[in-house]
Amino acid sequence: MLVSAKEMLTKAKAGKYAVGQFNINNLEWTKSILLTAQELNSPVILGVSEGAGKYMCGYKTIVGMVNGMLEELKITVPVALHLDHGSYEGALACIEAGFSSVMFDGSHYPIEENVAKTTELVKLCNEKGISIEAEVGSIGGEEDGVVGAGECADPDECKMVADLGVTMLAAGIGNIHGKYPDNWAGLSFDTLDAIQQKTGDMPLVLHGGTGIPADMIQKAISLGVSKINVNTECQLAFQEATRKYIEAGKDLEGKGFDPRKLLAPGADAIKATVKEKMELFGSVGKA
Ligand code: 13P
Repeated sequence: MLVSAKEMLTKAKAGKYAVGQFNINNLEWTKSILLTAQELNSPVILGVSEGAGKYMCGYKTIVGMVNGMLEELKITVPVALHLDHGSYEGALACIEAGFSSVMFDGSHYPIEENVAKTTELVKLCNEKGISIEAEVGSIGGEEDGVVGAGECADPDECKMVADLGVTMLAAGIGNIHGKYPDNWAGLSFDTLDAIQQKTGDMPLVLHGGTGIPADMIQKAISLGVSKINVNTECQLAFQEATRKYIEAGKDLEGKGFDPRKLLAPGADAIKATVKEKMELFGSVGKA
């Protein structure tokens, strides 16, 4: 059964580790992530962007697929199904469809409007026992057509949004989606520290988990980050493994038209990436 992300993140914050959010794009992705979480006895969050939601035939299809896998694969670790960077309408649709967690990304609205919309969604999520993530200060880079500049969040605004009763808070600290440029200044730990001082027990979320050096990840966790989002790294691993398989001509061996074989190396590469991240984030054995 899908669970809200609240309990797993409260435990992570108290235990000084982070739960990984891995974004899904199809059946193979989802299966790889769930099997790895089970094997490592780790809680996990499956992230779905609005674009991936459309690609996978809508939120109801995804809920059906994930719930089916939890049962058929006998997954017993805590799993949350979470809308990533949701619009207000997207969040409502996911709540309706059976997601156990949503992110409302109101960071591009003036703070008053972000607060008003977040407040409304918090009320609805509380009624349904669903966890909710809010964002303050946009995360840089481009994700599914959403482009942010990568600013550092204002700690007072973070406190204001945390006090609305959200489950977890994504705050910009110089992190960006996708690959980091060579001249990236790194994470702003002063900003993170100030945000954690103001928001206390609130689990903080680090987006853009691809390509952040391990020591920065560990420092971020020590300063209150309890959820880390990874997407691009799984995409790159999948692409690279599939490319190598095709370049070696292996897709033409045997029957030569079996999609299950073609997708298998990519699925294995995702498993390896997820394992590496769960070990780095410290969530192994924490289910
Ligand atoms: P990356 O694509 O940089 O791993 O970021 C993922 C993310 O933050 C999803 O919200």
